[in-house]
Amino acid sequence: MASAAGNYARRMAESSESYWERADLVQTVLDALAAAGLDLDRLDVDQLAVTDQFHGGGKAVTLRLAELAGLADGASLASPPRVLDVGGGLGGPARMLATRFGCTVTALDLTPSYVEVAQVLTGKVGLADRVQHLVGDALDLPFDDGSFDVVWTQNSGMNIADKETLYRGFARVLRRGGTLAFQEPMAGEVTPLHFPIMWADDESSSFLRTPEEMRSLIGGFGFLERAWEIVTETTSLSSTASPPPAHSVQRIIMGEARLAAMTVAGRRNLAERRVATVHGVFTKE
Ligand SMILES: C[S@@+](CC[C@H](N)C(=O)[O-])C[C@H]1O[C@@H](n2cnc3c(N)ncnc32)[C@H](O)[C@@H]1O
Repeated sequence: MASAAGNYARRMAESSESYWERADLVQTVLDALAAAGLDLDRLDVDQLAVTDQFHGGGKAVTLRLAELAGLADGASLASPPRVLDVGGGLGGPARMLATRFGCTVTALDLTPSYVEVAQVLTGKVGLADRVQHLVGDALDLPFDDGSFDVVWTQNSGMNIADKETLYRGFARVLRRGGTLAFQEPMAGEVTPLHFPIMWADDESSSFLRTPEEMRSLIGGFGFLERAWEIVTETTSLSSTASPPPAHSVQRIIMGEARLAAMTVAGRRNLAERRVATVHGVFTKE
């Protein structure tokens, strides 16, 4: 049987890590924030949102998902709720959950440069005692069974073909009665997608299943559905009126030219119903 380290090395070589990875990202992000007129010694999570919420819809949809998940009222959650953010990116959602809802958050991401940026930004906003960022693979979660109250994931499963292993892992690390909350692009009514899209240049690394396939898969791992909302419009980059600013995460990671091509393809995918993004909230039975 392959070791966890072996699995991880294989995944790094084969999968999305090279697609997402960027050199010198800490400096690039800090330079972009400074150029936008922000004081690097007095940052707060709201100022960072354009730069660190790496999903369509940004801060507003993170807060909406948190509301759907019941984080605002804290009902049935331990205090403070222990959250695992899978595919946490630059750490924007993790910091938002810590600041707004008092959560302690462990954010795991496959891309080392993102984790490095996440650690720097978390330090700058004074949240290092509540938010930690680790490099790791969503398909090989390095945590004990039942060790989280909430598993949270936004726009991170699209490169992952093996969704059975992904959701089995979510169920394993959640305690009984815990909450799974996700924002997940899924396959629309019409296929295939137009490329490039934010997570892939072509279909060889994009793995979307339909909402009904996902619902049935998730239910099969002992999750009870609490909320299921189609949020394609509000989470589509291409539906925004103006292009994102220079310090937006999309511009920093993708660059202006690639982002323009992604916006064109995104508009077509949206208009032709080729993608359906879902906010889902489930309880682990
Ligand atoms: C579009 S970004 C979303 C980041 C973050 N969730 C957010 O909303 O700001 C997708 C993230 O998924 C991560 N990712 C992709 N495959 C992964 C895997 N197998 N394990 C952990 N992270 C993964 C990428 O490194 C990237 O940071």
